[in-house]
Amino acid sequence: MDLKRKFGTSIGITPFGSLGSSLASASASITKLIVKNIPKSVNKNDIIENLKKIIQNQSINITIPAGIPADVAHKIEAGTNIAFLSCPNLSQLSMARNILNGKSLGDKKLQVDFYEVKKVIPTPAPAPIETSEEPKKKQKTEKKPKEQNKKADETKKPEETKKETSVENKKKETKSQSQSQPQPQPKEQSTIENNDNNENNNKEEEKQKEKEEETKVSTVRNNKAVINKITQQLSSCAESKNYVQLVKSYNYLKKIGAKPDHITYGVMLNACVRCQEYKKAKEVFDDAIKDNVANDVIYTTYIKALCEVDMTSAYEMIQSMISTKPNIRTFNSIFRGCVRSGDIEITKGLISLMKSNEIYPDSTTIEYLIKIYSDHLMIQDIWDLLAKVYERMEGQISPICFSRLSLASLLAGDIKSSVKALGITDDILAKAPQTLTTSHKNKGKLSERNKISSSLFERIGKQEINEECERVRSYLNKITMNNAKIKVKFYNMESFNKIYFSKNSFKTNVNRISDESSGKELDAFNELFNQYKKGGVYYKGTDDVDLNTNRYLKMEICSGHGHWVTERAGQDLDADWISLEIRYDRIFQIWSKAILESIDNLYIVGGDAHKSLKEVIPDGVLDEVYINYPNPPVWKGADRLINELFLVEINRCLKKSGTLTIVTDDKPYSEQIIEILSKSKKLLKVYKPASPDNTYLTPLAEDYGYSYFNKLWNNGQRVKRYCIVITKN
Ligand SMILES: C[S@@+](CC[C@H](N)C(=O)[O-])C[C@H]1O[C@@H](n2cnc3c(N)ncnc32)[C@H](O)[C@@H]1O
Repeated sequence: MDLKRKFGTSIGITPFGSLGSSLASASASITKLIVKNIPKSVNKNDIIENLKKIIQNQSINITIPAGIPADVAHKIEAGTNIAFLSCPNLSQLSMARNILNGKSLGDKKLQVDFYEVKKVIPTPAPAPIETSEEPKKKQKTEKKPKEQNKKADETKKPEETKKETSVENKKKETKSQSQSQPQPQPKEQSTIENNDNNENNNKEEEKQKEKEEETKVSTVRNNKAVINKITQQLSSCAESKNYVQLVKSYNYLKKIGAKPDHITYGVMLNACVRCQEYKKAKEVFDDAIKDNVANDVIYTTYIKALCEVDMTSAYEMIQSMISTKPNIRTFNSIFRGCVRSGDIEITKGLISLMKSNEIYPDSTTIEYLIKIYSDHLMIQDIWDLLAKVYERMEGQISPICFSRLSLASLLAGDIKSSVKALGITDDILAKAPQTLTTSHKNKGKLSERNKISSSLFERIGKQEINEECERVRSYLNKITMNNAKIKVKFYNMESFNKIYFSKNSFKTNVNRISDESSGKELDAFNELFNQYKKGGVYYKGTDDVDLNTNRYLKMEICSGHGHWVTERAGQDLDADWISLEIRYDRIFQIWSKAILESIDNLYIVGGDAHKSLKEVIPDGVLDEVYINYPNPPVWKGADRLINELFLVEINRCLKKSGTLTIVTDDKPYSEQIIEILSKSKKLLKVYKPASPDNTYLTPLAEDYGYSYFNKLWNNGQRVKRYCIVITKN
C-alpha cells in the first residue's frame, strides 16, 4: 500500500476533507498516523514519552513497530525510525497530526501523514460491466476462489516492496480484489505493532469499527471492484490515447452511480490532459470536487490542464487552494506553464505564494525560474536566486540553466555575466554523467518505449546546450575580434520591433512598450507588408544606386526552436521571412538565434497560428509557406492544426501561385491532410498539387534544411518523412 495512493501526499490537507474522502472509499480500514523522520538514536520509550509530551492527549495510542512495513520502507530516510498513532476519534488524530508535524525530535523535524491499515473483508462479486470484455472474463474466473487466493498470495509479496505509482497500485489492488476474495491480510501489516503497548484495546476498537462500517457500506464496496476495473481501463486508454473508449468507460462509471475515489479521478484527469481534452478535464475535475475527493494530485493535474488553456485561471486555482494545500509539484506545473507563456507577473505571484505556504523550491523549480528570468533578460534576479540555492542544490542544477543564463546575459549586454555562466556550464558538462542535462527525475516510471525516446531527448538536450554555448562563444569571439564594435543590449525581446505578440494569444502578459492604441507595435510588419503588397519589388537604393530587385516573402508556421527558419533566412537573402510560434520560450530561442547570427530579414509573430494569421498577415502577400513537423492530432479524431479552415486561411495569405509545403513524419497525419485536400470542394478550388504528376506527396529535397524535430527524426532512425506541396490556383 502506498501512502500517497490512500491520502494523496496528505501534507497540508485539511483533516476533515482528507479523512472524509478516505472513509468513503476505503471504509474497511483503520486510519492511523505515521510519524516519520524520528532519529534512530532515540530509544523506543523516549520516542513514546516525547511524542506524548508534544501531543498531550491520553486517548491516543503510540506504538513503535518492530520493523518498517514494506509499503512505506522506500519513503523512510536511512537512520530514522517511525511511530504509529491511533485513536478511535479521527478528529483528535488529525489534531495530533497538526501538532506534531514539523516538530523537532533530536536533530530531525517530524513528518506526519495519515496511514491506512487495510482490513480486507470478503467482498461480493462486482457487478458485470457491459462495456468491456474484461469483467466478463473475470466473472468466469471468480468461480475458483481458492486457487486464485493462492495465486494472489504468490504474486503479492515481492511486488509490495517495490515503489509503485498510484495507477500501478490501483491495478494491483484490482487484480487481487477481482481474483482472490477474501484476500489474506498482508503479512507486514500484522507485524506492524509492537506488543509493549495498548495494542489489544486498539484491536478491539478496530474490530468493532469494522463491523459497523461493514454493514453500512457494503454497496460502496460492491462497486469498488467495478471502479477498480474501470480505473484500470481508463489507465490503459490513457497509455494508448484512446479517448473515445476513455470517455465511454468514464461515462459508464457515472451511469452506474459509482463513487470513484481520488485515484480513479486522478487517472481520468491525467488521461484527459494526455489527450489534450481540456473541456473534459474540467468536467472530471468538477465531478471530483462534487464527490469531495479532490486531493493535491487532482488539483495539480487540473492546474496542468488549465495552463494549456488560460494561465490566469491556473493561477487563480492555485491561489484558491486553501483546504487542499498545493505542494511543490503543483507549483512546478504552473511554473512550467509560465515558461511556455512567458508570464512573469504570475511567476512573481507564485513565488510569494510559495513563501507564504512555506514550500521550498526543488531543482525543477529552479530550472523553470531560470528559464523564465532568462527569457526576460532578468540577469541579476538569476544570480540572486542562484546565490540563495546553489549550495543546497549543488550538483542538481541542470547545465541548461547556466547556458541559458549565459545567452541571456549576452543579449542584455552583460558580457561578464555571460562569460561566467558559460564557464560554469562547461564545468558542469565536463563533470556531468551522461544523463545530467535536465533535472526531471521520473525516469523510473517510464515504459521501455518511453525510456528510449527519453534518452534520445536527453542526448539532444545535451547537444542543444552545446550548440547554445557555441553560439554564445562565437558571438563573444566576434565582439573581441571587432574591438567591441558589435554589441548587443536589449531590455527584453518584447521591445524588439520585428517581433509581434498576438493579442489573442498573449493577452496581458506581454509588456508591449509601444502605444497599443496607435498600432505602432505592428509598424515594422506594416512596412514590410506594404512592400509586398506592391508586388515584392524591393527598392533599397540610395538616390544614385538603384537596387530594384524581386524579393520574396516566406513564412514558417510552428517554428519551434527556430533552427530551420533562421538557417533558411540566413541563407536566403533575397527574401524576408516570418516565423510563427506559440510558445514564449521558443520565440525567445528564435529571436536569440536571429540576433546572434545577425539575421536581419527575419520577423517573428508570437501566437496561435489560426488566430495570428488573421490578425497579422494581409491577403496575398506570401510567396511560400512552410509547416515543418506540426504536432499531429493526439488521438484519432482530435482537433488538429491543419484542417480545412486553416488551409483556406493560408490560401488567403498566399500570392497567386504561392506554395504551401508541409513536412511530417507522421504517416496517418499526412494521409489525413491529403484526404482533406483531395475531398474538400473548397480546397480543390483554391489549391492544386505542385508536383507535375499531380500528386500531393513530393520527395523531400536533400538540402531542405534541418530542425530540432528533424534531428529527432535522424537520431531516432525513423524511416520516412512525408512532404506535401501544394500551389495556390
Ligand atoms: C513538433 S514542433 C516542430 C517545431 C519545428 N518546426 C521543428 O521542426 O523543430 C511543433 C511546434 O508547433 C508549435 N505549435 C503548436 N501548435 C501551434 C499553434 N496553434 N500555433 C502556433 N504554433 C504552434 C509548438 O509550440 C511547437 O514548437
